[in-house]
Amino acid sequence: MNRDILVKKLDALFELDSIWNGIQDPTWRWIERIYATTNFDWNSFFEPQYVKGLNGLMLKGSYEVKAAHCSCFFSPEVLKSILARNERNGFIFAHHHFDMETGGRGFLAIDPEILVEIKRRDYSLYYAHAPADCSMNIGTNAAILQAFGLKHMETFGKYGVGHAGRIAEFDGPISGEILISRCQNIFGVNPKIWNFDMNRKFRRVAIVAGGGDDVDLFKDAETAKAELYLTGEVTSRTNGDWARQNNDSIEKYLKASRMSFIALSHNASEVLFLENQMKQWFCDLGLNAEVLRDSDVWR
Ligand SMILES: [Fe+2]
Ligand SMILES: [Fe+2]
Repeated sequence: MNRDILVKKLDALFELDSIWNGIQDPTWRWIERIYATTNFDWNSFFEPQYVKGLNGLMLKGSYEVKAAHCSCFFSPEVLKSILARNERNGFIFAHHHFDMETGGRGFLAIDPEILVEIKRRDYSLYYAHAPADCSMNIGTNAAILQAFGLKHMETFGKYGVGHAGRIAEFDGPISGEILISRCQNIFGVNPKIWNFDMNRKFRRVAIVAGGGDDVDLFKDAETAKAELYLTGEVTSRTNGDWARQNNDSIEKYLKASRMSFIALSHNASEVLFLENQMKQWFCDLGLNAEVLRDSDVWR
């Protein structure tokens, strides 16, 4: 498939050519800092529109695209497994434009050595972050609503020109026990729980795919009468002072809250969008498509 046509279709899918046009991704503020540790000239390596902080094409590979490879983060494990096949001319689509250790160092630059090899082999890199989190139909929260058969009620948590959170409802009450078993089936993880009673019945749920470890989001969800807060991360598991301070506020909030909380891991809560939606989207265009999952979703 022609690369430029594919990019145009993706830009339209995530409304990068309309409502997100010229809007910097909210995660952009960390990029300068994470590449500062690498001595890598990322400014001249990536596409000019990416260097401005815009979503979409990061690296322009071959004119003809052979296959699509989807991933949550540009992690070394995922990128090395693509390169290990000795192929060329692929299109790598990720939700985030960086790597991340959610249980360690936090935001990380994409490994420069791997980037150089990716360019040499004519791969394209493309990302859709906030536009995919905020998208009503095809995106990280949208995929969670779809997988559970939840009905959208309202949005919360302003994020860029959209919202990071969704309030949604089950058709009828669902027990904590059934909910946990559905989480295991849908996301392939053992969820972490707080304030959780297996016999409690839930109907109204707040959904925040990815990093939902934010007291302001908890408050908005509770104000919107959510009984449950379902997210990737309830607590901050990265190293450092910010995470420690944030966890102090989170711990206080959890003690006083009537909401129950489920964490699925940042990775598993967002890779679902690639597995259940994007893979098929690429296949419908006639491309071979695959989703590469990090072996440790809590990494
Ligand atoms: Fe996300
Ligand atoms: Fe995320």
